[in-house]
Amino acid sequence: FESGALAGVSVVITAGPTREAIDPVRYITNHSSGKMGYALAEAARDAGARVTLISGPVTLDAPDRIKVVRVNSAMDMLQAAESELEHCEIFIASAAVADYRPAEVADQKVKKSADEMSIQLVKNPDIVATVAAHTPHPFTVGFAAETQDVEHYARGKLARKNLDMIVANDVSRSDIGFNSDNNAVNVYWPEGQCQFDVMNKQILARELIGLVADHFRPD
Ligand code: PMT
Repeated sequence: FESGALAGVSVVITAGPTREAIDPVRYITNHSSGKMGYALAEAARDAGARVTLISGPVTLDAPDRIKVVRVNSAMDMLQAAESELEHCEIFIASAAVADYRPAEVADQKVKKSADEMSIQLVKNPDIVATVAAHTPHPFTVGFAAETQDVEHYARGKLARKNLDMIVANDVSRSDIGFNSDNNAVNVYWPEGQCQFDVMNKQILARELIGLVADHFRPD
């Protein structure tokens, strides 16, 4: 991207997994190291943006000159996102949010007496769709982690969640996507698409921020 491509622009990025408590010692989660989201936050900062990173539990250090809001559950992540919305001009959802959470969280550790047990799950709110449903809403970019029919499902999420752009990951490959240092993505928006072959997440993040900047301020 050109230096200053996002000068003074407020950008909010979600990253990492969420943890949905079962009891005080157990939880349900998704794969995600946070590497993609943290790299995007650093790239947006380097493009001149004021960046807030809403991060699920990851082992990465807080990047310099970025406000980091640490959360655990999807409900916490939603609340953090909504409280950042007033000044947010670009929202990028790279977090791997748990789609469901246990309907009830046990106060005490559940004992392992029964041979089988089931956990009732309820759907979590969709954070990026909630952001995109606000009026006015920021330029909203989602990710799509897919294992098959990547374009079909990604374009479905672009339309259904009312996003401006979606970055699709094929997470069936072990060399890219979750946890890896590299990623390869296809990006879709209503009138177009582009493809980035395998590269380091830091370099990819700079490409993606350049693309977002071009669409955020078309001229
Ligand atoms: O963290 P890394 O190890 O670097 O891996 C990066 C990544 C693979 C996690 C990342 O690139 C990625 O693809 N993130 C999205 C993962 C995901 O949960 O995708 P999804 O297709 O289930 O969700 C679609 C979109 O809706 C995403 O933008 C997601 O953040 C958002 N979502 C989903 C559910 C929910 N309740 N709220 C949401 O906001």
